[in-house]
Amino acid sequence: MLRKEQNDLLTQTGAGAPMGELFRRYWLPILLANELPEPDCPPVRVKILSERLVAFRDSEGKLGLIDEFCAHRGVSLWFGRNEECGLRCPYHGWKFDTSGQCVDVPSEPAESGYAKKIKLTAYPLIEQGGVLWTYMGPPDQEPPRPAWEFSLVRPDQRFVSKRHQECNWLQAMEGGIDSSHVSWLHRGTIDRDPHFRGSKGNEYNMRDAKPVFEVVESEGGLYIGARRNADEGNYYWRITPWVMPCFTMVPPRADHPLHGHFWVPIDDENCWAWSYDYHPTRALTPEEVKAGEEGQGIHVKYVPGTFRPLANKDNDYLIDREAQKAGVTYSGIEGFSMQDASVQESMGPIVDRTKENLVGTDNGIIMARHRLMRAAKALVEKGVLPPGRVAEHQGVRSAAVILTPEQRFDEAAKDALRVREGVGQASV
Ligand code: FES
Ligand SMILES: [Fe+2]
Repeated sequence: MLRKEQNDLLTQTGAGAPMGELFRRYWLPILLANELPEPDCPPVRVKILSERLVAFRDSEGKLGLIDEFCAHRGVSLWFGRNEECGLRCPYHGWKFDTSGQCVDVPSEPAESGYAKKIKLTAYPLIEQGGVLWTYMGPPDQEPPRPAWEFSLVRPDQRFVSKRHQECNWLQAMEGGIDSSHVSWLHRGTIDRDPHFRGSKGNEYNMRDAKPVFEVVESEGGLYIGARRNADEGNYYWRITPWVMPCFTMVPPRADHPLHGHFWVPIDDENCWAWSYDYHPTRALTPEEVKAGEEGQGIHVKYVPGTFRPLANKDNDYLIDREAQKAGVTYSGIEGFSMQDASVQESMGPIVDRTKENLVGTDNGIIMARHRLMRAAKALVEKGVLPPGRVAEHQGVRSAAVILTPEQRFDEAAKDALRVREGVGQASV
């Protein structure tokens, strides 16, 4: 349970709010690189951390992320003409470059230097791993480039997608660090989905629906270990890394690719759920890529032309009560991501955490909240930069391992929980 002020602190990410400041100290994924495929392509609206921006790729291929609204009289520059190294407002022709600098005010004589005095807010936008990332904090505190393993492997080793989720980022992320729901909500689906089926771990998951959670702090966040009974008195551990502020990874199954998510606030009532698959040592198979493109695994099918899932709250997520009754799917909803999104959105846009009743399986969530609150306060009160900004913190992997009862998961799986170049994931 949280006090109201704590819930507000964690869920509000606009400029000036402590969590908003915290998020503004990281490179955040905001667009798929193919949303801005080529020079002078159409600009894209971006809303992130409650700020409305527009992204574009100029004639030289340079990326820009600037205030959505024209400095003249506020027209959305999404309507702009992307031409000759800038975005030109269609209303009266004012033009802005990728740095937000106004470079032309056609009604004023060029000699007046009027345009030079006009500049829109702009943030750096970089491409890495098929994703465009921005950093919205003070320029002198910009972290090194993102070092998440999925973004560093060869392009044929990964598949990345994103979907709009209609709730606050935190309740979406809390699903990502809550391994206990897998035995319930995703029952049925893990045995059928091409990205998950055929793993011995699935059997342990289903046989033991009472996992014991142990959570330890990592440099950048937490390792959340969920222990279930395996064979011969041993334990099956599924270990989920969480790295500040919003990166989570699903423990692997068999030799399937690793999966994970970012949960990035659009505003306080919406977020982007980013989903990535990658294999550390091999190209994804055509079947694995096809499964992602078809919305299987942790990906979804979309309303055409959007990133809104086809199954959404306006159609009750296409719930199938027959499938629910027959146990084909546990909740009647198809697919991991929409199983998660449906229950999380059902809590309302910002769940009231003063009313919850937490139990032992919520330990990961409790510790993550506290770590976030501590870091946000340390940042705004003392200027301490938060963890999770550097390669050493980001170089983590999830793991699934069998250990004896005597072994501590964080020690026994120490190497498995780090990126090891050329070495595959530890999986069951
Ligand atoms: S509103 Fe953009 S040029 Fe006038
Ligand atoms: Fe889930």
